[in-house]
Amino acid sequence: MKQKKRNSFAVLMDYAGSHRFLSYAAIVLAVISAWTALIPFYDIWLIVREILEVRPNFAEAVNIGTYGWQAVGFALISMVFYIAALMCSHKAAFRVQANMRISMMKHIMKLPLGYVGAQGTGKIRKIVVDSSAATETFLAHNLPDKAVSFATPVGLLAMMLFFDWRLGLICLIPAAVAFILMFTLMMGPKMAEDMKQYQNALETMSAEAVEYVRGVPVVKTFGQTVFSFKRFKAAIDEYEKWTLGYTKNMMAPMVAFTAAANAIFAALIIAAFALTGQGVTDEFVLNLFFYVLITSVLTVTLMKIAYAGESQMLVDDALNRVQEIFSAELLPEAQGAETPAEPSITLDNVVFSYEGSENNAIDGIDLSVKAGQHIALVGPSGGKTTLASLIARFWDVTGGSIRIGGADVRNIPSDKLMQYVSYVFQDSKLLKMSILENVRMGRPGASDEEVMQALKDAQCMDIIEKFPDGVNTMIGSKGIYVSGGEAQRLSIARAFLKNAPILILDEATAFADPDNERLVQQAFEKLSKDKTVIMIAHRLSTVTNADRICVLADGKIAESGTHDELVSANGIYSRMWSEYNRSVSWQVGKAGV
Ligand SMILES: Nc1ncnc2c1ncn2[C@@H]1O[C@H](COP(=O)(O)OP(=O)(O)OP(=O)(O)O)[C@@H](O)[C@H]1O
Ligand SMILES: [Mg+2]
Repeated sequence: MKQKKRNSFAVLMDYAGSHRFLSYAAIVLAVISAWTALIPFYDIWLIVREILEVRPNFAEAVNIGTYGWQAVGFALISMVFYIAALMCSHKAAFRVQANMRISMMKHIMKLPLGYVGAQGTGKIRKIVVDSSAATETFLAHNLPDKAVSFATPVGLLAMMLFFDWRLGLICLIPAAVAFILMFTLMMGPKMAEDMKQYQNALETMSAEAVEYVRGVPVVKTFGQTVFSFKRFKAAIDEYEKWTLGYTKNMMAPMVAFTAAANAIFAALIIAAFALTGQGVTDEFVLNLFFYVLITSVLTVTLMKIAYAGESQMLVDDALNRVQEIFSAELLPEAQGAETPAEPSITLDNVVFSYEGSENNAIDGIDLSVKAGQHIALVGPSGGKTTLASLIARFWDVTGGSIRIGGADVRNIPSDKLMQYVSYVFQDSKLLKMSILENVRMGRPGASDEEVMQALKDAQCMDIIEKFPDGVNTMIGSKGIYVSGGEAQRLSIARAFLKNAPILILDEATAFADPDNERLVQQAFEKLSKDKTVIMIAHRLSTVTNADRICVLADGKIAESGTHDELVSANGIYSRMWSEYNRSVSWQVGKAGV
């Protein structure tokens, strides 16, 4: 998809694969349906002509019945063709929608792991689900309707010029004006831009609504109702602004278009007066009657085309959003096929900044971790998670390099790298499946016994005993949830199964209770044995035994050394340590009361 502006239909047909002929068939069938639907009007003309011919001896009008049935027959045939068109278009549309979703998901799977987190899963979900659904509506319904709306006026035009070309031409003038108005005023680039802004405002409003609901617990506890409502309210106001603006901009063109479309009747009346100067013939009355009948169809189809234009803008916008996902840059495939020789980690002047951010989240870090060493990262929001995710190559460094066992992480094939590194996330994600399957993801071939052993090693037995279904409990179903600390222990069980030589643990920021904290720590200590460990700690009690502690501040290593060294150095760490001790004694004191 290199070309700058491709027709949406052509883009959609790329996804249709072998089903594309169904879309073409739908168009052809819809056109046939539109034209057969016009034949009954001709039958009515025949009936009226016969009545006029035999008048006043109406009993002689013997062919009326035949014409009548013929009209009914063609109306039915037209319907059958239309249904066949819909069947074809739906089949093609479902295929396009499915293929589009699959290729989007394939692309998302190849994106840097960090991208999904940064974009927000809500936005990505909306694009994958809603935008592809918009294309489905377009292909399944709007496309055949559009074919009908364009074929009908063509057929009508032919008929109008055929019966009385003078009347036909006069009707054509307002129809042409309506057409031109529609294409210039109602479908121009300005309107497409408005439509995009409108969709954006709608998207922001939904996102803010979700944020608002998610934030309700925080809002309630801190009583910040007005403040938090402000952003939601602003999003609603913005949406209102665009909706009203769009509607207002549409008003004048819509009035002009409707007036022109309906002026066809007026033109007909004027034409009738003009053309009957030399007296009225039977034939003229017949044709005029016929024109009154079919011009109403013309007006309706013109309106339909106007709405087809709107659906076209909707699908264009949806495709642009889909394109946004495809244009997100993939993490380049590993350049070489190096494998780490041993689980050491070397960071060489590593710099990293998030896209669109002015500051470096990591600002020149050198760090050397020998195989088997335990390193702790501490400090207030200074880039700890970012640094850890760079080691696992969720992002690529902006500058410098990261090597594992001598191999640059960019040269290690991603499956190899993932086998070599276990990562326990700060907010451990569990999937909506059983505890057993969730843990088995650590090593898909593992037997049930091995999973059970990992659960035991990770101190998860109390979680399993809590639920009647034990390890077969479905997480996330019917109100079955686990706390943050419990989720982290289950993730540690995953890491036990995987048994990778390098271990990165991003400790959850807050545990509900000290029991959980103790269990996570026990599980992690056991897992860390004989492994190279990067441990991000928020509670300093967990890091005192580390071989080295690095204090990160503003993307740099501010201090590093063992616990004892840092405490006596009287720097940031020693301040954090005394603060930590004060909070512990405060908690103990509180518990004593
Ligand atoms: N996806 C992202 N996009 C842009 N900026 C980000 C992103 N993730 C983190 N940052 C920014 O990078 C900086 C470092 O964030 P990071 O999450 O690495 O800190 P941290 O030390 O792990 O903090 P915490 O102790 O709160 O977990 C912060 O200023 C943060 O706002
Ligand atoms: Mg963090």
